[in-house]
Order: sequence, then C-alpha cells, then structure tokens
Amino acid sequence: MNTKIKIVLISGSPRKGNTEYILESLSKLLKKAGADTCLILLRKCNICFCTGCLACETRTKSQQGICKQKDDMPELLEQLKQADTIVLGTPVYFEMLSGLTKNFIDRTCPVWPSLQGKKMGGVAVAEEGIGQALLNLKQYAEVCHMKYLGSLELLAKTPKEASRNTSLPEKLTAFTDLLLQG
Ligand SMILES: Cc1cc2nc3c(=O)[nH]c(=O)nc-3n(C[C@H](O)[C@H](O)[C@H](O)COP(=O)(O)O)c2cc1C
Repeated sequence: MNTKIKIVLISGSPRKGNTEYILESLSKLLKKAGADTCLILLRKCNICFCTGCLACETRTKSQQGICKQKDDMPELLEQLKQADTIVLGTPVYFEMLSGLTKNFIDRTCPVWPSLQGKKMGGVAVAEEGIGQALLNLKQYAEVCHMKYLGSLELLAKTPKEASRNTSLPEKLTAFTDLLLQG
C-alpha cells in the first residue's frame, strides 16, 4: 500500500515565470522529503470556461459530478480527488487571482464536495502587492471545507526574478515543512 502523502501543486500563471518556479521548487523539496507530488501547469492544459449550466450538480445521481465539456478537466479533477494536499499558486492580477487560476477553480464545481477534509496551501506572486489573491485562495479552501494550511507570498515582476530572490529558499523550506506537517 502506498502511504506517501500525495501533494498536487497547480500553477495558474500563463507564463513560465515566478509562480511556476516556486511550485517547481516546492515540488522538488516535497519529493526529497518523501511526498508523492504532481505538478500541474494550467498554461499547458486545455480548459474551457465554466458555462454555469450547473448540470454537474443538478443532473440525475449517476451523472452528478460530471461536466459535459470535453477538455483536460476530468484528468485534473481525478488528481485533485486523489490528493491529500492541494497547493494552488497564482500570479496576482489587479490584486486578484489570475484568470487561469479562477477558471480552474470554477471548473472544480463537479467535485468540490469531495474536496472536503483535504488540506490546501496558497502561493501568490505580485510585483508590489498581493492584494486579495491569498484571501481568495483561502476563501476557496473554506467554501470547499478544506483545511487551509497557510501561504507563501513573494514580490517579483520579471519571469526570472523569483529564482534570484535571496529570501525565497528560507520561505520554501518553511512552507514545505508546513505542507508536510499539515
Ligand atoms: C494583467 C496583469 C495584472 C497585474 N496586476 C498586478 C497587481 O495588481 N499588483 C501587482 O503587484 N502586480 C501585478 N502584476 C504583476 C505580476 O503579478 C508579476 O509580474 C508576477 O511576477 C507574475 O507572476 P508569474 O511570473 O508567475 O506570472 C500584474 C501583471 C499582469 C500581467
């Protein structure tokens, strides 16, 4: 039996930049500490917008939890269902979540009741201010009845800035410990 903690990390940046670097680094540290990790880059996924039909909630019992759209979401939702801990990372756009992150959250509608009891961490990167982004992620965890473990935030603008930030290694270590201790 596989008793390793499974941590799914999701980057909601449309570019290979700071959020992705942080999640990649976390994934490596968590793996090194013995966790089973899966890194999902939303920029590489085909994800339609939620149409708001709510069929995933209102259809007959056998059809509940299923979205009628044909894209990459079923595979991603399966990863979420298997996760013990979910780490959502977003660049800050107009002091909120990126569109990619928000749309992914909306498309978890078919499975959100089964996220109850899981753990979640939030990551946000902004040029000068995190704004509401981490509160948005915490709120999502609360709506889904997940335990919000905490956040990692960093200020960076250009894509490689996080990798040069001397305060990041310490933040990564502390956040890794937080995710593993739960
Ligand atoms: C559309 C857009 C809106 C942004 N809004 C903000 C903002 O409100 N506050 C801020 O500090 N940075 C803002 N930024 C800067 C990004 O948060 C910053 O460049 C960050 O490093 C992006 O993360 P990434 O490299 O993971 O994509 C914005 C960038 C874009 C493209």
